[in-house]
Amino acid sequence: MKCRIDKKSCKVFLNFGKMPIANGFLRKDFKKKEYFFNLEVAFNERLSLFQLSRNPSPQKMFNKHYPFYTSSSKNMIKHFKNTAKWIKKKYLKKKSNVLEIGSNDGTFLKNFKKEFSLGFEPSKSVHLIAKKRKVNSFNFFFNKKNLKLLNIKHKFYDLVYGANVFCHIPNQVDLIKTIDKVLSKNGTIIFEEPYLGSMYKKISYDQIYDEHIYMFSIASIEKIYKLFGFTLIDAAPLKTHGGSMRYILKRGNVLKKSKRLKNLINIEKKYKVNSFKGCLMFKRKVELSKNKLLKKIKHIISKKERICGYGATSKSTTILNYCNIDNKIIDCIFDTTKDKIGKLSPGMHIPIEDYKKFKNSTYKYVFLFAWNHRKEILKKEKNKNIKWFTHLN
Ligand code: SAH
Ligand code: TMP
Repeated sequence: MKCRIDKKSCKVFLNFGKMPIANGFLRKDFKKKEYFFNLEVAFNERLSLFQLSRNPSPQKMFNKHYPFYTSSSKNMIKHFKNTAKWIKKKYLKKKSNVLEIGSNDGTFLKNFKKEFSLGFEPSKSVHLIAKKRKVNSFNFFFNKKNLKLLNIKHKFYDLVYGANVFCHIPNQVDLIKTIDKVLSKNGTIIFEEPYLGSMYKKISYDQIYDEHIYMFSIASIEKIYKLFGFTLIDAAPLKTHGGSMRYILKRGNVLKKSKRLKNLINIEKKYKVNSFKGCLMFKRKVELSKNKLLKKIKHIISKKERICGYGATSKSTTILNYCNIDNKIIDCIFDTTKDKIGKLSPGMHIPIEDYKKFKNSTYKYVFLFAWNHRKEILKKEKNKNIKWFTHLN
């Protein structure tokens, strides 16, 4: 395959097989044939860029049915409040203008004044919630075409921000050129995304699904943005979404970079995050992880115990479909999201139940698919005598 950015060849190295849309929860009476694609991963050594070899069209994923709401996690609400506070203090003035890409239900932008902020959010389901919350949200994809269509002011925004969305955008060239158009002369780009280094460390291969077209590392971001005249000046590891990295970039060739950034780059080198060797090591560990999980499940079933899941995450779609764990193995998955409850999980068709029913259920073994929200969930469900497990270690 050809890299989406430099258009030269990439090495394909890992195939997860047939996959549905990770957030494509189905009504129980669904009639339309379910969509599947081949989930396969490749690496571009020149840009140190980990990417899917193909991806479903963004319109297939981000539409009026999109069921992921940022505000479904109290910790994430707190995280974005703290992030906004930190950004205001460090990078903004009183009347600075902020543009967010993938603003979802407005959780981040709620921390800014409406007249100084704007969000681009293509999924109508979440956009409508943002509107209700009086957030300035445009129901559009952030791209050059829509910038023109909406008559967005050029060089106007002092901050372009995104969380868990840059890796969703197939056309990175258009993305960066569009940012270049809207960002003010001394503006800052800040974004945070699931981090390749954390995925390698945890073998959290469930981070790989249709929406995550790229899994970025510091080296990849540094190289990609240099092509467009931006400098990565700092990066910060985050605990959110099971291990993310925040990137901070400025225009031009900035010589002053943080000490932390230099340290993080050295860590990436040490753990082979940016070499094809690292990819092959990961592949091997993913295969071992699958075998170990299936053995664990077989053992539970042999004791005549029933299993349920907790948190119908997009990540769970990869685990369930890759390991072929269906509704005969997992009875149901409990979740808080209104748009998911009463539906079936993508591909494996496991029923999604209201988490309120979990308290009175008798499951002893619970697969915690929302392992990145472990603390928040276990605090809520602490009174139950349960053996929580995941595919991680
Ligand atoms: N930023 C939020 C939401 C992440 S989910 C958070 O971190 O919780 C990704 C969001 O980005 C979705 O709401 C999706 O609809 C939106 N999105 C996807 N592609 C986009 C694009 N090209 N432009 C703007 N938003 C996009
Ligand atoms: P995420 O891992 O992509 O953030 O998705 C989290 C999913 O887990 C989402 O469907 C909501 C669900 N969830 C719960 O069911 N209970 C909880 O306490 C939390 C935090 C999330």
